[in-house]
Amino acid sequence: MSVTAIIAAAGSGERFGVGIPKALIQLGDRTLLEHAFASLAPVVDQIVISAPPGYEKQVSKLLGDGVTVVAGGATRSASVRNALAVTTGEYVLVHDAARALASSDLARAVIAALKSGESAVVPAVALVDTIKVVGTNGYVASTLDRTSLVSIQTPQGFNTAALRRAHAAGADATDDGALIEANGGKVKIIAGEDRALKITTPADLHTALGFLGFDSTYRTGIGSDAHAFGVGRPLWLAGLLWPDQDGVDGHSDGDVAAHAICDALFAATALGDLGSNFGTDRPQYAGASGVQLLQETLAIITKGGYSIANVTVQIIGNRPKIGRRRTEAIAAISSALGGAAVSLSATTTDGMGLTGEGKGIAAIASALVFKQ
Ligand code: CTP
Ligand code: MG
Repeated sequence: MSVTAIIAAAGSGERFGVGIPKALIQLGDRTLLEHAFASLAPVVDQIVISAPPGYEKQVSKLLGDGVTVVAGGATRSASVRNALAVTTGEYVLVHDAARALASSDLARAVIAALKSGESAVVPAVALVDTIKVVGTNGYVASTLDRTSLVSIQTPQGFNTAALRRAHAAGADATDDGALIEANGGKVKIIAGEDRALKITTPADLHTALGFLGFDSTYRTGIGSDAHAFGVGRPLWLAGLLWPDQDGVDGHSDGDVAAHAICDALFAATALGDLGSNFGTDRPQYAGASGVQLLQETLAIITKGGYSIANVTVQIIGNRPKIGRRRTEAIAAISSALGGAAVSLSATTTDGMGLTGEGKGIAAIASALVFKQ
């Protein structure tokens, strides 16, 4: 019997609140989507990813050939439908990229239940909280009996034809089991697992890091950088191009904010510094963008077993004025660092010193990391 896994990965991650789709956020040594993919790949015959629209190519590159990528829809159900259209398996597992750490064993248990004759199988765990129904007036209408309630997870397994029928009307539901139920189908509950938690907020990411064996020993590092203004150079700062501003001289693009952050990350992880990792003796980094160096730094510290808790950078100079583009700059840096928490401030020095005299721009950064 052939099995397809659909990974719903098209959500924007509104509640997580960084500038990149949640499935592409870094968790330990890989993205949420790569974790989900790695646990399903050994147990299924075909994998279809419902990718955030516009990110199809990036997702293909991340997961390699052999994976079918479709554009997701406006809702989770629509994303699943788009993937169902190219599903070839007799059975299908529908999984949330956000449940990145669900194990291969859980997927195997779902498939085993399908093989034993079930046509819809949903993993679930007991509830910890008491659930109340709230009336429109803000008062409790009733309290549900917790012993008969469960919290559902993915991967959920289905007979593909049955799931197609359940989706045929184009209905929306927060899980696929609900569509089968609405169609009068029987949905079998099997034991879920704590590590299949849905990563919704940064706090959940922290819980997930615990499952991966990251301890809570934090390390901090600082970094700084300064460049003099140069003639005829574009200004790159904090991952952004600043048109109509004088650029700075340097081996790379001279993005002092990016460089200070890289150094802070290297300092926190004791993995050298900007010079030892990307110095002038490495010609491949001549002209490298700040964003590229941030990405490379993330790859190096990730390989060293570290994960970023947060990064903060202060830009010191008379110009450009940062405030107007602060959000954009934070998003550019965060995205280069796999969705890490980033803050950015700027200051002048009351006309004193090299930056105060308008001779250049400087930045100082600090980073907090923890180790696996
Ligand atoms: N999903 C999807 N297509 C959508 C919305 C969600 O494929 N239009 C996927 C998400 O990528 C996620 C899963 O469905 O893997 C569960 O959704 P959720 O955890 O709510 O993720 P997001 O929608 O990305 O998060 P938020 O609701 O906070 O924006
Ligand atoms: Mg959502």
